[in-house]
Amino acid sequence: MSKPLNVGLIGCGFMGRTHSNAYRKVYSFFKPELKPALKAICDVSADKAKAFADTWGYESVETDWKKLLARKDIDIVDICTPNNTHREIAMAAAAAGKMIICEKPLAMNTAEGQEMVDAVEKAGVPNLVSFNYRRVPAVTLAKKLIDEGRLGKIFHYRAVFLQDWTISSDLPQGGDALWRLDAKVAGSGVTGDLLAHCIDTALWLNGSIRSVTAMTETFIKERKHNITGKVEKVNIDDACAFLARFSNGSLATFESTRYARGHKALYTFEINGEKASIAWDLHDLHRLGYFDHRDDSIVRGWRSIHVTDGDQPYMGKWWVPGLQIGYEHSFVHQVADFLEGVATGRPASPTFRDALETQKVCDAVLESARSGVWVDV
Ligand SMILES: NC(=O)c1ccc[n+]([C@@H]2O[C@H](COP(=O)([O-])OP(=O)(O)OC[C@H]3O[C@@H](n4cnc5c(N)ncnc54)[C@H](O)[C@@H]3O)[C@@H](O)[C@H]2O)c1
Repeated sequence: MSKPLNVGLIGCGFMGRTHSNAYRKVYSFFKPELKPALKAICDVSADKAKAFADTWGYESVETDWKKLLARKDIDIVDICTPNNTHREIAMAAAAAGKMIICEKPLAMNTAEGQEMVDAVEKAGVPNLVSFNYRRVPAVTLAKKLIDEGRLGKIFHYRAVFLQDWTISSDLPQGGDALWRLDAKVAGSGVTGDLLAHCIDTALWLNGSIRSVTAMTETFIKERKHNITGKVEKVNIDDACAFLARFSNGSLATFESTRYARGHKALYTFEINGEKASIAWDLHDLHRLGYFDHRDDSIVRGWRSIHVTDGDQPYMGKWWVPGLQIGYEHSFVHQVADFLEGVATGRPASPTFRDALETQKVCDAVLESARSGVWVDV
């Protein structure tokens, strides 16, 4: 018999939807010991919150997250609000003894992130940061193949995350979704928004990063601000490219931009080892590219593994072999792993502490872009 766990979710935008969908699906497919119940939704906009509660089936509505945190009937606080709110909400949620799932990036910078880590660890509350791409089955399979030593010594890590939605100079900054262009709310541009995903995956698959050298550019220097109505300087990085050295001796290149015409959300990575290589592409997310030099030469080549079999990560919980799943399922897996971590006492990663490592790399990247020199992480 499952025990209920009440969710209070803050922020009913894009991520509010992916997380709500995950809470609704997780019990049916994963049968966790703890069964999430959609208890309360919170947003600064009452109209939005009411409509959201109706769509997703939340029992109640709040417009002030402090009131949500004060409620005794809330067990998990799920933070799906813009980056500049993560610290304050998470610190208060920890003090209130709530379990916390927080959207990425953990914080605006490392100093804030460290405070959040200290707060959740002092309170002893379960915590997780939503770097969901780890839980795309093909990416989880990549982790398994690397951990089994199939690639041998790793020489290269290559990641890109490309978009094209900010090319127009008419696009304003600030407000719903467009807060990403306002550094006061976002902290940084593509570094914290997109490269943070690439860095999290890289640290998970290939271990820690020792040092970085970076360049960033802001192609459009001023944009109208939706909230002030004035034309204001743009302080985010529109594009960022950096080189990195991992502690295991491998070399890496990372690139992200919102100015790659033709690309909407192209996250790819490739890892080259002594014995084998791996490649993954978000646009074909259920496939893992794998090349094994140990194959007989007459059949040696890149294979495209269709990750749908029951013995491949997470897939035994879904349909039958050959039938694939998609983007939203990575959030279902995230909730399933979080609930299992709470039930078993073996926390799912990335915890706040794990995500702080990504924050440190992001900060080192931005510092190197400013100084023009290599920066140790
Ligand atoms: N894991 C991922 O792949 C992924 C993808 C997109 C966004 N994100 C992260 O998720 C977070 C939210 O992004 P989004 O795209 O959902 O944003 P969004 O703009 O779509 O939604 C944010 C919502 O939060 C509400 N809000 C803002 N301040 C609030 C406050 N103080 N109290 C209550 N509600 C508040 C807004 O009204 C809005 O409804 C960000 O940290 C972002 O970096 C992660």
